[in-house]
Amino acid sequence: MNVRNIFTAAAVLATCALGAGVAQAKEFRLGLITPPSHIWSQNAVEFGDALSAATDGAHTVTVFPARQLGNEAQMLQQLQTGALDMAFLTVAEVSNRAPDFGAFYAPYLASDVGHAARILDTDVARGMLDQLPAKAGVVGIGFGMAGLRQIVARGDVTTAEDLQGLKLRITPFDPILDFYNAVGAAPTPMPLPAVYDALANGQVDAIDMDAELIWKLKYYEHADTILQSNHMMFPMVGLVSARVWQDLSEDERATITELMRKELQDCIDTYVAKDVEWLEQVRGTGETMIEVGPEFFGDAMTEWEATWSEKSTQLGALREAAEAVK
Ligand code: BEZ
Repeated sequence: MNVRNIFTAAAVLATCALGAGVAQAKEFRLGLITPPSHIWSQNAVEFGDALSAATDGAHTVTVFPARQLGNEAQMLQQLQTGALDMAFLTVAEVSNRAPDFGAFYAPYLASDVGHAARILDTDVARGMLDQLPAKAGVVGIGFGMAGLRQIVARGDVTTAEDLQGLKLRITPFDPILDFYNAVGAAPTPMPLPAVYDALANGQVDAIDMDAELIWKLKYYEHADTILQSNHMMFPMVGLVSARVWQDLSEDERATITELMRKELQDCIDTYVAKDVEWLEQVRGTGETMIEVGPEFFGDAMTEWEATWSEKSTQLGALREAAEAVK
């Protein structure tokens, strides 16, 4: 068999492997901002492996972690034009396009990480994905998450007064900016890769962060106090470009949906199993950790609620749904 015939035979085999309704093999690209070792990145790779296995190698997914394709705003733009096929993005970025999603960041919407997982599984939460094709040019397949948020500070912090005026790193998006403005801190938007150095060299006084990264990236080594506040959930969303989606067959859509949802659920299960354990590991280093609840933040909670009940039409419904799965 000559080289041309070999390629033709391979293409025919690939097409047969895909089954009826699938036109051709596809090489998808999936982007995210997290480093390769991060749980989101690992789930993305596992999704690609599963899709490849389900199509006998005809469909592949190349994962681009660590902002190789740009920041989340840039990736969302690429998804919109079809230049990028898929992404796992923070709901933070999506909420910049679809403000209803800001409701997920309501302080103490979730009472613990298991509750956060149940909230993401409610009809209200899943129903919000329906607005993404029109608002952001993407199809929302489902939610993942990164546990609950904590505060890591360089100085001693025992009351909310101690946060006044502190330069406090936040993920760049409005709901969390509004929260820390209400607290009286000086919120400093900063993407993930810049955080370690900024905390280590004192460019910021404190950071808003999740338990996994406080432990694994050793942020605690540059802190005097960790407020175990669990004040906010931090959902992620698995997305497919709406332009790419429209060219997929029903079979392909069903397979991608099933396999991506499985990985997103696996991601959630990992955080539910590990979020508390990571903080216990930090505590084991002798770090000063102070457990605080909603009362610590006082009026900031009501102020945030007043602002976001105007900005998100889903805040009330999501709070009710959260109450129902407490
Ligand atoms: C952050 O900005 O803190 C962040 C982003 C993605 C995953 C985890 C944390």
